[in-house]
Amino acid sequence: MRAIRIHTYGDASVIREEDVPRPVPSRGDVLIKVAATSFNPSDVGLRRGLLRSVFPLDLPYTLGGEVAGTIVELGDRVDTVAVGDRVIGRLDTGGAAAEYVTAAADTVVAAPTAVPLPHAAALPIAGVTAWQAVFEHAGITTGQRVLVNGAGGGVGGFAVQLAKHAGAHVIATASPRSSEAVRQLGADQIVDYTALPLAAALDGPVDVILNFVVVGAQHAATLMSLVRPGGVVVSGTVALRATAGSPVTAVRFVARNDTSHLAALVKLVDAEAVRVDIAASRPLADLASVHRDAESGRIRGKTILVP
Ligand SMILES: NC(=O)c1ccc[n+]([C@@H]2O[C@H](COP(=O)([O-])OP(=O)(O)OC[C@H]3O[C@@H](n4cnc5c(N)ncnc54)[C@H](OP(=O)(O)O)[C@@H]3O)[C@@H](O)[C@H]2O)c1
Repeated sequence: MRAIRIHTYGDASVIREEDVPRPVPSRGDVLIKVAATSFNPSDVGLRRGLLRSVFPLDLPYTLGGEVAGTIVELGDRVDTVAVGDRVIGRLDTGGAAAEYVTAAADTVVAAPTAVPLPHAAALPIAGVTAWQAVFEHAGITTGQRVLVNGAGGGVGGFAVQLAKHAGAHVIATASPRSSEAVRQLGADQIVDYTALPLAAALDGPVDVILNFVVVGAQHAATLMSLVRPGGVVVSGTVALRATAGSPVTAVRFVARNDTSHLAALVKLVDAEAVRVDIAASRPLADLASVHRDAESGRIRGKTILVP
């Protein structure tokens, strides 16, 4: 089968399309025919070796940290899913940038039926990260004013929708290329972060900030100043520190692979309460150029890759 692998850490030229044996599902695993995987910024960090101290790769490594596809074979002792099931899941050891991938049966959930199967590959990482930011870390409730910083990205787009679903008034940062898409996702107010100082655009403090941008110290301080006393700042990127004596709760988190959150998200997609907004669908063989595009800031929203 075709697979997109790296044999060494490095720039995007280390990404190669190769012929490799089809994986065989071990006990407890399923074999999935990949309908799509999706690109995440962390794929660039993995490929460059930036995460090797916390997450060393077993090289050669097949890229692809999440999958949507159809189960075609079961390993021993699998009775929770069946051949023919359409599933999605996050794969913590990669492998989805290929025609087939194996996954532990208990890490996949039924794919939503309201969207095309390849689109559902956008949910396991970005969707679950947004879910945990909104519901676990920020505990967003009806009537709160919530600022989503980085709403033009994959995670931010889901966060806007989930915060709206929780009943919040959502203010979203987006540059002109993303503002229409973010408006369609339900944001009440959009601030063009390339044109306006955030503080000037806001009509008073917010209760919650959800941050999905790698911000520098100065921008971080600006964000912290926009939250009301007693408010919450949740960051999926850098830590945003509350200043000494400031009554703001600051949380930095790394999303867990939690199938209950993924299944809950699927329910919302099927209820048409959450849209899976795909900015681009590209052939899997283009993965190296998707990495290059990401490194030069040309990727927005979710890009899926189809074998
Ligand atoms: N904590 C975790 O477990 C976890 C999980 C997943 C992702 N992440 C991290 O979260 C971040 C977002 O991930 P993603 O998948 O959403 O990335 P993405 O889709 O690549 O997001 C890129 C978006 O960020 C926006 N952006 C860039 N600079 C900005 C700024 N100064 N202000 C506001 N928006 C800005 C851009 O929006 P415009 O199009 O509007 O310019 C762009 O579309 C990444 O750093 C990723 O590594 C963390």
